[in-house]
Amino acid sequence: MTALKRCKACGLIINESKIKDLCPACGVPKITFEPYTERVSLNRKRLLDLHMHPIMVHIPQALISLLPLMVAGHILLPERYGIAFLHTATVLSALLPVSAAATVVSGMLDGRIRFKKITTPYLKQKMLIGGIMLLMTVGMAAIAVTSGFVGFYVPLYLGLNALCLLCQYLLGTIGVQLMFSVLPG
Ligand code: HEM
Repeated sequence: MTALKRCKACGLIINESKIKDLCPACGVPKITFEPYTERVSLNRKRLLDLHMHPIMVHIPQALISLLPLMVAGHILLPERYGIAFLHTATVLSALLPVSAAATVVSGMLDGRIRFKKITTPYLKQKMLIGGIMLLMTVGMAAIAVTSGFVGFYVPLYLGLNALCLLCQYLLGTIGVQLMFSVLPG
């Protein structure tokens, strides 16, 4: 097993055998590297390196950003294009709570691996905000599937979408802080 080294300038952790003259991340001379001992067991490291949650979060983020455009397209474009936007918005809205649920579950799994429990203050906040967001995505899916985006359902739907965007901002702000913290062992 080749030794690990850490760049004191940028924090990059890399196998000693892969270091050439410069740090491949920040370009400082290789003299800047120091020995590094992995603090997390191999199994936990392998699971964290799957990046389940950081990958998963992008799906509800993309849907929540795209859906208002789909609804606008349905309302503003000529009927033969608007109908395509309507169907797309309906299908994507139905997928939204599924992706949000998978994001919440993957976050709880990653949180459990990182901190060996999920009852920490930040993780509890994330479960609360994530749960509220999940409920709102179910509401959006119900509106999309039942209403066909007519009348006051449109502002209600867009209002829920805006609140989901706020939840994602809060979840991301906490999440980014958790990215670089882990309990050893
Ligand atoms: C829909 C709900 C959620 C969203 C949108 C969300 C969003 C995010 C984002 C944007 C990050 C930073 C990832 C990056 O920068 O690549 C993150 C990280 C993280 N989140 Fe969430 N989160 C959600 C729910 C949860 C829940 C319920 C938990 C746990 C109880 C959680 C635990 C974590 C952890 C531990 C990290 C650090 C990276 C990791 O180990 O995966 N998240 N989250």
